[in-house]
Amino acid sequence: NKVVLAYSGGLDTSIILKWLEDTYGCEVVTFTADIGQGEEVEPARAKAQAMGVKEIYIEDLREDFARDYVFPMFRANAIYEGEYLLGTSIARPLIAKRLVEIANETGADAISHGATGKGNDQVRFELGAYALKPDVKVIAPWREWDLSSRETLMAYAEEHNIPVDFKKGKKSPYSMDANSLHISYEGGILEDPWAEPEDSMWRWTVSPEQAPDKPTYVELSYEKGDIVAIDGKSVTPARVMEQLNKLGGDNGVGRDDIVENRYVGMKSRGCYETPAGTIMLKAHRAIESLTLDREVAHLKDDLMPRYAELVYNGYWWSPEREMLQEMIDSSQATVNGKVRVKLYKGNVTVAGRMSDTDSLFDERIATFEDDEGAYNQKDAEGFIKLNALRLRIAARKKR
Ligand code: ARG
Ligand code: SIN
Repeated sequence: NKVVLAYSGGLDTSIILKWLEDTYGCEVVTFTADIGQGEEVEPARAKAQAMGVKEIYIEDLREDFARDYVFPMFRANAIYEGEYLLGTSIARPLIAKRLVEIANETGADAISHGATGKGNDQVRFELGAYALKPDVKVIAPWREWDLSSRETLMAYAEEHNIPVDFKKGKKSPYSMDANSLHISYEGGILEDPWAEPEDSMWRWTVSPEQAPDKPTYVELSYEKGDIVAIDGKSVTPARVMEQLNKLGGDNGVGRDDIVENRYVGMKSRGCYETPAGTIMLKAHRAIESLTLDREVAHLKDDLMPRYAELVYNGYWWSPEREMLQEMIDSSQATVNGKVRVKLYKGNVTVAGRMSDTDSLFDERIATFEDDEGAYNQKDAEGFIKLNALRLRIAARKKR
């Protein structure tokens, strides 16, 4: 028997690798992906090799992640509990999908991951895996072993000669997760919701206080709801993430500090840096404001929290998420044009929006000046009267 492990190359998943071999006597296939976390993935090869792994998968999935997961989610303007841009949540379905595909390719019957039994990630990995491979076996070492403390883990590594060059250097005091959409921080002093993180925690953004005193303008071109060019130059989805993370980060855009409800029932405090995502949400809403019919836009907004919850809770590979996605995607046919945003000391503001082909904004109708008969103000009288009818009937009754 064989198991495919989501392997970062770090200490924890290296211990898991060894533990799987020891506990289950199984062969381990490792899978390591570059999804824009900003760390080299190649070193994971040598580490896996040193531990005797024969089948090692190392993949650059940055374009797949941005194009097939991040972009579709941003068409929905998804945001969880009013704050969280779902940076970790949206990466898990891709990892789950590749774990399953690699299992199928290598003849493995099981998958394994390094998420704890207290979090959302276990749910996302496993719901995804079951949805794509119904008979798959899942091994979640954190729910099984008794290596729960840092010391017992280190002792286990020592004892099993795990090449721990990753032991040296300063280990971050936070539980972190990064990809091209965000970097997250949990644990450590953040476990006190009253404690403000020290400024040195943040890795992608300067503090708004330290950001330049001059604003940066960026022009984003949209086709069917997706950004296809920055300042007039065509860019791929992964490059959009990269460039907007840089521009946003330099201007202190995208920090967030929240207490959120995990699917497993607990509240958890997390800090997130999502520079590109913060810009994308603002700009996408701006281009939609011009190009979407009012009722379509409002219906999207009604359904958005449901969509966000599905992504958060791990139901990416579900019929209901797919149904909502089809609806959202079809709404984006007219979402074409461009948005000019201004980045300044932690803020994103919309400086302009336009759509040559799809704008529903009619200056002739909207104007405060003479509209030359485009809109008959007298019509409003009856419109208001009929809408007021039931209010008046009820008001009379109350007397
Ligand atoms: N709380 C966030 C979420 O559930 C971030 C989780 C971070 N995961 C991690 N393995 N550090 O999406
Ligand atoms: C974990 O528990 O592995 C990280 C946090 C989460 O999944 O919510």
